[in-house]
Amino acid sequence: MLGYRHAFHAGNHADLLKHFFLFHSLDYLIQKDVPLLYVDTHAGAGAYDLSSGYAAQNEEWQGGYQRLMSSQGPLPQSIQRFKNFLEASISASGMYPGSPLIADRILREKDRRVFFELHPADYETLKNLFNGAKQVTVFNTDGFTGLKALLPPPSRRACVFIDPSYELASDYEKVITSIQEALRRFATGTYIIWYPLLAREEARTLRESLLSLHRGNSVYLEIQISKARERGMFGSGLVILNPPWSLQSIIPEALPVLADMLKEEQEIYLPTYRFVREL
Ligand SMILES: C[S@@+](CC[C@H](N)C(=O)[O-])C[C@H]1O[C@@H](n2cnc3c(N)ncnc32)[C@H](O)[C@@H]1O
Repeated sequence: MLGYRHAFHAGNHADLLKHFFLFHSLDYLIQKDVPLLYVDTHAGAGAYDLSSGYAAQNEEWQGGYQRLMSSQGPLPQSIQRFKNFLEASISASGMYPGSPLIADRILREKDRRVFFELHPADYETLKNLFNGAKQVTVFNTDGFTGLKALLPPPSRRACVFIDPSYELASDYEKVITSIQEALRRFATGTYIIWYPLLAREEARTLRESLLSLHRGNSVYLEIQISKARERGMFGSGLVILNPPWSLQSIIPEALPVLADMLKEEQEIYLPTYRFVREL
């Protein structure tokens, strides 16, 4: 069951997309003085050495992180800021930051961070990375079920990042039921859910199922990096419920540039997004 190791994929096109929007979402949410709860239900190891071990085997980061680093010419401000952030983060630790480390670098002392990671080795690495920091709690338990006990947070402000590997077919259903439960407890939180573009039925219907669960504002965005195919991922997307306002301008500005930067083929696949307003 726990065959998936995120290190093989660290810094790839999907990481770049999800980390870009996680960065900008948190960057906006911390502008308000009230403490924020950040929950990462599928946290991974927290940081990855791209030059050795699993990450060096297929070098998937060449199709993501490396594309951003070697991009020439002026970039939209939102992408340039993310690039500067990644450069600073990597020069501080020598590692590509996973979502927990990205969040930790943006969040303030008063913001609580809660990470779930099931894989025993990645859990150990993650726990050691934060080394008992008092704002951080790391659980070696199921993030889908752990999430509900944290909601609603005392400050009534939260950002929840749900980033499963979808290696198990049951993950699709679990994403839906845990969002249903989370919204029932706390409908005003920001929920960021990553999903792969795959031919399989569950992947094709997940986006609309998630959007239909929420009566407030939401958005989805997708980038296709290659032709749709029967086997394997050909891009990925995010559904964001109660998205930060800043994404209204960042998505149209940045998404076409990211799509062009990350594509695997000459052909350009136009990225798609749709804001859904509160009913
Ligand atoms: C896509 S990776 C996470 C990457 C990470 N969010 C990042 O952006 O750096 C998914 C992780 O979830 C872990 N995992 C799988 N099922 C889980 C579950 N039910 N609860 C918590 N972690 C789980 C896997 O071991 C894997 O490390």
